[in-house]
Amino acid sequence: QGTWHEAAALSALNEGEPYGIEIGRHHVALYRVGNEYYATSNICTHAEALLSDGILEGCEIECPLHMGRFDIRTGEALTSPVEIDIRTYPVRVAGDRLEVCLP
Ligand code: FES
Repeated sequence: QGTWHEAAALSALNEGEPYGIEIGRHHVALYRVGNEYYATSNICTHAEALLSDGILEGCEIECPLHMGRFDIRTGEALTSPVEIDIRTYPVRVAGDRLEVCLP
């Protein structure tokens, strides 16, 4: 279930540079790790900072506000103070674009 949406040009997605977008009511963060792409909710579950303003290290995004960390592959909340996992969304490459599947 869900609907595929065009999310970004692949050329806009650089290693180590989380990329925030809005699609309808969804705030989505896109990430590139090597040649893999991931998408999560862009809103930290702790106090609503934008994760796209944070620092990506490997597959961990660090929130810019209180330094909580999530695994971008699973959404798992890894370090204090974050306790609630973030949503993750499926992505796929279509030509030179990245698409994301949103509920
Ligand atoms: Fe993200 Fe506090 S808002 S860790």
